[in-house]
Amino acid sequence: MLERGFRALEFSIKYVDESKVDDLCLLCIPAQNASDPVFARGVEEKRKWSTEMLRKFRSFAKLAYVGSSPVGLIQYEPIVDERVVKIHCIYVPERTHWRKGIGKKLLCSVMEDAKNPLAWFGNEPALALVTRTFPGEKPGQCPARLFFTRMGFRQVGEDPDFLYYPMKEGFAYRPVVRKEAEYVPQREDEGKALIIYGPSPCPFSYVFLKRAEQAIVDVAPNITIRWIDKSEEPEEVMKRGNVEGCIVNAKLIRSFVLDKDSFKKEVREAMNR
Ligand SMILES: CC(C)(COP(=O)(O)OP(=O)(O)OC[C@H]1O[C@@H](n2cnc3c(N)ncnc32)[C@H](O)[C@@H]1OP(=O)(O)O)[C@@H](O)C(=O)NCCC(=O)NCCS
Repeated sequence: MLERGFRALEFSIKYVDESKVDDLCLLCIPAQNASDPVFARGVEEKRKWSTEMLRKFRSFAKLAYVGSSPVGLIQYEPIVDERVVKIHCIYVPERTHWRKGIGKKLLCSVMEDAKNPLAWFGNEPALALVTRTFPGEKPGQCPARLFFTRMGFRQVGEDPDFLYYPMKEGFAYRPVVRKEAEYVPQREDEGKALIIYGPSPCPFSYVFLKRAEQAIVDVAPNITIRWIDKSEEPEEVMKRGNVEGCIVNAKLIRSFVLDKDSFKKEVREAMNR
């Protein structure tokens, strides 16, 4: 059953500036993982991403606060050549805060900004908000896809997770087709595993890569694993086609690690090539 809450809650919405980056980066981390070094590294990668977003765009995230406690986030960035604002993530982690209007207020606040002339778009307003949802909800929590469709977002093409909200009457969003990054195999990658990571909007990206490392070791206990930090060895990443994630025996693994069986099957196939 999805949760329903009926009590009013007072909260405020604030832009994330330098003073709020820590609040943004820590909000999604469950209390029981707060001192775990793997999660701490995930938070660090999000901090690097946030610093870069602040430098590039100034406005890239908002937080909802109850008093001085952060209780919800929304992260976004302009897609300049499409004149749209992409929403990366919206999240209200704690059950006690669900269904109190926080998510709606965060989204509406970004919508209001997007109606104004924006320097990103040569002082024009955005044509639309766009998002790609994924199943990140806790048990009983509202899935992002349901939330956005309830907020009036429409589907783009055939993918039910690809959604947009037109900011101009009659506007139909047609995404620019972009070439996906493709791994460029290297002789030196043969017989090894590589894990490429770097600044990320989600602190769980690093945590999931650690799980991927364990899954690779489960399949190939003696394999040498090399971690490549994108921000420290950019040339190593560029020569491999600027891909991120796991490469096993010179093959990019496409399965998501939480789909453990598919992930391990792909690793096994890569090893047996
Ligand atoms: C989606 C989310 C942001 C909504 O936050 P919220 O503050 O609880 O939502 P709101 O109270 O603003 O609700 C706005 C609307 O969303 C819909 N909604 C929210 N919760 C709902 C629920 N439990 N059941 C059905 N609809 C729901 C309703 O249409 C609601 O409007 P209404 O209350 O007027 O009917 C929150 O549930 C969430 O974080 N979900 C997980 C999203 C996710 O996976 N993010 C990525 C994590 S990495």
